[in-house]
Amino acid sequence: MNLVVVSNRVARGKANEPMTGGLAAALLPVVEKSGAIWVGSSGRVRDGAQKEPFAEIEALGAGALAMLDLPAAHYGGYYEGFANSALWPALHSRTDLIRTSQDDYFSYREVNAFMARALLRFQKPETAFWIQDYHFLALGAELRDLGVKQPIGFFLHTPWPASTVIEGVPHHRELVEAMLAYDLIGFQTQDDCDHFAGYLAAELGLDVEGGVVTSRYGRSQLKAFPIGIDPQKFAEQATKAVLHPDVSRLRRSLHGEKLAIGVDRLDYSKGLVNRLCAFDRMWTMQPALARTVSLLQIATPSRGTIEAYGNLQNELAKLVSEVNGRHGEVDWTPIRYLNKGFSQTVLAGLYRTAQVGVVTPLHDGMNLVAKEYVAAQNPADPGVLVLSKFAGAANELDTALLVNPHDIDGMARAIATAVSMPLAERRLRWEAMMVKLRAGTIQQWFADFVDTLETSQSGKRASEPPAIEPPPVLWPPRLANSNARYH
Ligand code: G6P
Repeated sequence: MNLVVVSNRVARGKANEPMTGGLAAALLPVVEKSGAIWVGSSGRVRDGAQKEPFAEIEALGAGALAMLDLPAAHYGGYYEGFANSALWPALHSRTDLIRTSQDDYFSYREVNAFMARALLRFQKPETAFWIQDYHFLALGAELRDLGVKQPIGFFLHTPWPASTVIEGVPHHRELVEAMLAYDLIGFQTQDDCDHFAGYLAAELGLDVEGGVVTSRYGRSQLKAFPIGIDPQKFAEQATKAVLHPDVSRLRRSLHGEKLAIGVDRLDYSKGLVNRLCAFDRMWTMQPALARTVSLLQIATPSRGTIEAYGNLQNELAKLVSEVNGRHGEVDWTPIRYLNKGFSQTVLAGLYRTAQVGVVTPLHDGMNLVAKEYVAAQNPADPGVLVLSKFAGAANELDTALLVNPHDIDGMARAIATAVSMPLAERRLRWEAMMVKLRAGTIQQWFADFVDTLETSQSGKRASEPPAIEPPPVLWPPRLANSNARYH
């Protein structure tokens, strides 16, 4: 099989460079090994006058990386607009943050259609397409419109919320119908999968039986594929990374004090405000913990041109300075707050240095930082993971200290418990988590999805599909001549 993987953000094969977001970092090693072609955005735009979509192609392990310049007229409406100001907030149950327009939706559909046309050049008879994440919900339908018959799979890296939440997205019905063009739709957790099935029943009147739904596109399989990491490789990286200058400087600066670490994109879904408030509360309630434990919070800026992200950045900067002002001493800074990215190698070393990992998102598809923190620990003296029960990772890492990120006092207590947890308990909890990590690696995730996708078309159009009642015309179908702009 010739696999074509598609995502908005791609990663180049350089482990020593910072990478933004879990998706690109997770896919890089497996895509490299698989020999797949990985297609995504170059991060640059160009006007739509060119005949062929422009792609810069370079080798990536046994395969290739193709980075496309997306159409300038639609990039903002697609990326900052519909993808990250309508879908992202809704998928993370923040419908109050939805800010979008008809134009954004139009641009989103245009970029999906543009990507579909660009993919045709990588199509061979034995090709299977694997589309990643919420940027491309409608890409499968666009490929089908172009006559593509090969297997097309989709994996959502974020949560899929309850129907009442997703209904906050303008054009939700049209988008979910378009998703049914995929042969296989993968989710991080069974809850996400169930929410999606619930939507199909409630909004489209479609039943899911044995994980399969039949629509006008034929059969689509719905399944949970919890994404993993390579725990062994991460552990090796962590062991080596203790010699890295950044890591040894951090160690030297601690003077025996314990360290808690948080590593996140600067995003409202990550629960950063609540986390800082929990540390504030802990140092207020238990002053003896001042100087005993400090927090290193890495918050990598992302999507900074979107208002909600700019506001969060200001709020966090203010909060950090207030908390440091309240609890700091001439020779002790409670929170070290860094707005930059680090390579996987350095992160592995930082995780191993920290006695507590704090991963407390309000909602998160999986959260690979939680898994990486665990894998990076010294088996003889492992740290403690404080994990939000609303991260997908909590399903597997159930021996972490699970917290409700809305309960500031509860989090403060959990962090204090983590700091003083006896070695025997730390080891028991850590070993149980490692068993889970070894049972669900990224290699297995990749292979499971691809194997399921390969067999997904058997009997696909065997039965006559039930007609879907046409949705109300919320959006005019793409104008026939609109394609011309990008050809
Ligand atoms: C999340 C999304 C990914 C995205 C990453 C970084 O993990 O699920 O699709 O690549 O964030 O976001 P950005 O907008 O900076 O690419």
